[in-house]
Amino acid sequence: METQQARPASKPVSALSLIEDEDSITEVVLQAMAGTEDQRLRGVMAALVSHLHAFLREVRPTDEEFERALAFIAALGHATHATNNEVVLAADVLGLSTLVTTINNNTKGGRTPGALLGPFYRANAPRYACGDCVVQDDSPGLPLFVSGTVRATDGSVLPAAMVEVWQASPVGLYDNQDPRQPDRNLRGVFHTDADGNYHFRTVRPAGYPVPTNGPVGTLLAAQRRHPYRPAHIHFIVAAPGYRTLVTQVFADDSDILETDVTFGVHRQLVGAFQRVEAGRSPWGDLPAPFYTLKFDFTLEPGEQTFPIPPID
Ligand code: BEZ
Ligand code: FE
Repeated sequence: METQQARPASKPVSALSLIEDEDSITEVVLQAMAGTEDQRLRGVMAALVSHLHAFLREVRPTDEEFERALAFIAALGHATHATNNEVVLAADVLGLSTLVTTINNNTKGGRTPGALLGPFYRANAPRYACGDCVVQDDSPGLPLFVSGTVRATDGSVLPAAMVEVWQASPVGLYDNQDPRQPDRNLRGVFHTDADGNYHFRTVRPAGYPVPTNGPVGTLLAAQRRHPYRPAHIHFIVAAPGYRTLVTQVFADDSDILETDVTFGVHRQLVGAFQRVEAGRSPWGDLPAPFYTLKFDFTLEPGEQTFPIPPID
């Protein structure tokens, strides 16, 4: 609504901040937003507008292309519901989520790199004792014996640290995607022993595709990209007085480590999934063949927090 204050009638038209050509628009928009009280919001929006305007000047979309781009963004919203967040998925396949995770998980002090929480984290995973097995069904797949030590960046071991794990099955489905799996199969909460060690048994996970039935799937197809993530296990490692680590460990024998559709594979997060052909398992007395994985985690001092589960 026009007010007396908003209408500088006394100024000659030539002195008003009006649009003259494509280069003058950015400054006019920045001026319009200059009164934003929240300084962080003001800075973020100014940078966003400046970069988006520069992007459009570079790409020079036609009107039809601009309409298609807006329709794509609207379709992300339409495809988002209780069990699928297409907006987050779009951020994942464009590398935005991994970039933000990397920005916020500096490893210079020796902390283990972080990785995406992902859309399949659920609360209330079963609590297990070290050595227990997180497999609740008899689905086929080779056993995997996972062990390691949780340390602080000063090298001290962390007893009673929480190690929470979740993973997809040998056919690449999480429990909540697969009616044949028991509730909270392949999920578990463990705690390290007095020496900071944890160990548990699971089944070797498979890689899996992200959802492709929405606009993100259409984009991936147009880019001739496969929709798969390499086989991995998710971890949350937490201890009082230390910054919680949300991360993933990837199977070193996966042939798509370099083409993870979400760009999540940090070099330090590739674990040695060793196939053992003879002998008995390190605990549990199972016959070969099986896999072992040894992976240590390092936490930095900071605040212990817990992520909000994106699904029930
Ligand atoms: C996951 O690792 O669970 C995941 C991460 C991003 C998109 C889809 C799945
Ligand atoms: Fe995953």
